[in-house]
Amino acid sequence: MPASSASTLDLDAILAPAKQVDGYLRQFLDNRPLPANLRQAMVYALLGGGKRLRPALVLRCCEAVGGSFTQAMAPAAAIEMIHTFSLVHDDLPAMDDDDLRRGRPTLHKHTNEAMAILAGDGMNTLAFELILCDPSIPTPALAAAIVRELAIATNDMVAGQVYDTLPQPPEAPENDGQTLDDLARLKRTHRHKTGALIRASCRMGAMCGNADTTRLESLTRYGEAIGLMFQIVDDVLDVTATTEQLGKTAGKDQKQNKLTYPALLGLDGARAEIERVQAEAVAALKPLGDSGHILARLVEHLAVRRH
Ligand code: IPE
Ligand code: IPE
Ligand code: MG
Ligand code: MG
Ligand code: MG
Repeated sequence: MPASSASTLDLDAILAPAKQVDGYLRQFLDNRPLPANLRQAMVYALLGGGKRLRPALVLRCCEAVGGSFTQAMAPAAAIEMIHTFSLVHDDLPAMDDDDLRRGRPTLHKHTNEAMAILAGDGMNTLAFELILCDPSIPTPALAAAIVRELAIATNDMVAGQVYDTLPQPPEAPENDGQTLDDLARLKRTHRHKTGALIRASCRMGAMCGNADTTRLESLTRYGEAIGLMFQIVDDVLDVTATTEQLGKTAGKDQKQNKLTYPALLGLDGARAEIERVQAEAVAALKPLGDSGHILARLVEHLAVRRH
């Protein structure tokens, strides 16, 4: 697409190709033997809205390196499954204890806690099965590389949820003997709990499009920057937006005493960080030339999103 038409694309148009994962996920679940109530729970969580940002990143990064959307559809659907599993568990009473998600009751409210735990567990493994069963991934080596990418990112997400939810002893071995200050701890949490899946989305898209090392590296840096930015914006929206706008309970972070960017740096400080990381994301796209325009436009939209 020429740069001029890319620059006029609105957020919905950039995300639009990712809506195709809905049909893909529905068909995959319909064909997979599962207890009917478990399938219904997964369908409720997966197909009840959501921006589909991560699948859009997979598809748009594949496109940016010259690949087609079809080539990247399985990893796009798989990462949405992992993301949805993370949301279902994030909302549980033992975690953030939320009643509202994507404008509807959370899965444990709609069904019960046992089903929400089990549906999350199931989605976490079905995502990998889905990639390994998809005939559009041309070689077993590529399928294995994508599965590895997704597995590492999923574990990093889980680590991030631990950093976010449970106290971390300062002497923990992963701190390399250093005492982390609040900002370093916050960055580490955000890079893991949200950044990891967003970074993996970009990398899997690039891998499906057979990106060379330079482009893969460029999209990795891009994914790291927008991953951090996306969670800073989420923190800001928790303070500035309404429950109706978000489709999830606003004002939760302060209530639960979470370490967030607005809590640590104030709203102006958080907004300055968004601008700084946004510039990093755009700079990372440089090696892609004109092919990076849609991705650059996407960052601009995400920096000012309202839900
Ligand atoms: C919400 O993610 C959780 C975070 C990692 C901030 P999204 O804002 O992408 O949620 P959906 O998928 O659109 O519901
Ligand atoms: C979510 O962070 C991170 C994951 C689900 C892995 P939040 O707890 O801030 O997400 P919301 O605000 O509930 O969507
Ligand atoms: Mg949380
Ligand atoms: Mg939460
Ligand atoms: Mg939040």
